[in-house]
Amino acid sequence: MNLLAPSILSADFSKLGEEIETVISAGADYIHVDVMDGHYVPNISLGPPVIKSIRQSTKSFLDVHLMITEPLRYIEAFAKAGSDMITFHQEAASDVTETIKAIKSYGIKVGLTINPNTSVSVLDPYLKDVDMILIMSVEPGFGGQSFMPSTLDKVRYLVEQRKALNLNFDIEMDGGLSFDNIEEVAKAGVNVFVMGSSIYAMEDVASVTRAYKKRLKA
Ligand code: DX5
Ligand code: ZN
Repeated sequence: MNLLAPSILSADFSKLGEEIETVISAGADYIHVDVMDGHYVPNISLGPPVIKSIRQSTKSFLDVHLMITEPLRYIEAFAKAGSDMITFHQEAASDVTETIKAIKSYGIKVGLTINPNTSVSVLDPYLKDVDMILIMSVEPGFGGQSFMPSTLDKVRYLVEQRKALNLNFDIEMDGGLSFDNIEEVAKAGVNVFVMGSSIYAMEDVASVTRAYKKRLKA
């Protein structure tokens, strides 16, 4: 099933609860929460206290994307804040297996992700242990960048591997998604679509969310 995951990075943080409610009422499946530490990526966004507040105001599925160095140090904090899934970068973790284990120990889902310049084969040892692979289709750090079509080959590789190994992880894509490319992205095998600026920078957030949901169903 195709799932729509609006990224609140492009939302108005002064009315975050409302911004989340708008997309959920319009059919969004996940809320994608981008955590940036100013070290692994050059930008700083938000941390566990904000996720805790979001958790108190919504029951929706919180898809937390950690763009932070050594994520293992903060798994407990992000799990206890109320994340439903924590996705971290292979490049940022010195022990990927331990980090996966730590996330699972809280009974929540685990995702693993790579930057556009990282080879997809680094994920091979972990495919059997994760609920989702996120393929970054822009350099992480900022919303509103252009989609990199070359990253779709990684999606095709994952689809093949998933079949060959009889696994069932989801494949998420994040960065530069819009009406211009989601059909191509879905065709390659992505089933979880992160969208920041193409939803939250739009005038009518609810109707654009409904339109994306409709397009992803077709
Ligand atoms: C980028 C973040 C994305 C970002 C996507 O580092 O991981 O989730 O919000 O924004 P758009 O959809 O505008 O590219
Ligand atoms: Zn993200």
